[in-house]
Amino acid sequence: MLNIGLLGLGTVGQGVVEIISKRKKELEELLNKKIRIKKILVKNMDKKRNIILPEDILTDNFNDIIEDDEIQLIIEATSSLGEGYRYVKEGLERGKHVVTANKAIVSRYFEELTALALENRVAFLYEASVAGGIPILKPLKEHIPLNRINEIQGILNGTCNYILTKMFEDDLDYDEALKIAQDLGYAESDPVADVEGYDTLRKLRILSSLGLQRKILEDDILLEGIDNIKSFDIEQIKKLNSVIKLIGEAKHYEDGYVAIVLPTIVAKDTYFSTINGAFNSISFKGDNVGELKFYGPGAGKLPTANAILTDVLDIGLNTYRNKNLLGKKRLKNYNYSMKGRFYLRIPKMDWKVERGLEEITEEILGQNKYIGIKTKEIELERIYGIIRTLNIKKKEYFLGRFL
Ligand code: HSE
Repeated sequence: MLNIGLLGLGTVGQGVVEIISKRKKELEELLNKKIRIKKILVKNMDKKRNIILPEDILTDNFNDIIEDDEIQLIIEATSSLGEGYRYVKEGLERGKHVVTANKAIVSRYFEELTALALENRVAFLYEASVAGGIPILKPLKEHIPLNRINEIQGILNGTCNYILTKMFEDDLDYDEALKIAQDLGYAESDPVADVEGYDTLRKLRILSSLGLQRKILEDDILLEGIDNIKSFDIEQIKKLNSVIKLIGEAKHYEDGYVAIVLPTIVAKDTYFSTINGAFNSISFKGDNVGELKFYGPGAGKLPTANAILTDVLDIGLNTYRNKNLLGKKRLKNYNYSMKGRFYLRIPKMDWKVERGLEEITEEILGQNKYIGIKTKEIELERIYGIIRTLNIKKKEYFLGRFL
């Protein structure tokens, strides 16, 4: 019998219960043993839920799970960083396998939890933490020993991609599009993590630390979100026959790397422009395998629960990689010296602003109470220099780059 303790019965937790009950026969045939969720940790035992559960399965006491020696595997499906981390840590220390969908935990404590799992000879798996239903970490892990991964790029947040798609296709404004994304269950309980780019950043932290084989922490990643985007920006980008996507990218250079999350302008006929709605896509380039592209549902109840259960199967079948796959390369961070063409929109202030912008501008794309420019090929730090010199606040500008 594979006994599972499930932590959290929100969207993802309910998806786990649903798939296990729907696919019980197939799962048990494959595992050659019974599988059951023995306990589910919830905050509120009395809450009305649209799900049929066996009696006495719910608990609001983590001890009922951690102290139960029959429970060999914990699925962590809370959205909490602090409590979730404590549960994962205690679970591993007590010799239980842990599967999590919680990217905030993986991103913050990646090295520590990986080491702890090895020390306790159990699995710590997190496929669902990056790009929902898309199997991306398993293929990446398979390719690390065989390749130097030179580049990872991805549309990694369903909420942002949904908002941007709706703003482009249906001319919705930002708030309307965000509201629909929340109603559809794509956004995190606090959507700031989505729209300010932190969710993408955490996923890139996980992907890039594995892929580039260097510890790339959250603070090592340069971040701009989409929360400042305005219909003005959409108009300018449309004029260029392009769309905008929030893309996370990590690149491996000879002695350094770049890791950035930036709104990215892509021409309409190129690959990333075709990834719409809540879908995600990730590509990585290995020096032997070449470029691989992955596409699929990046968020949502069943896709995310499905990813969790692929990890559960790996544990049940003992087919997971029982190694520390995190590397220790020494690479310099080149984020600010990254060269490219950028889109910058700032309030139209006075002639001094234009004078400040002049030397980096290739084309003024539009102006009314804002001014939106396409820059010449410059280093990213020059943009931040101008923003600082002109004393433009975070909420007042929107920055993207051209891919
Ligand atoms: N809020 C996340 C998203 C959920 O929109 O992509 C999946 O990580």
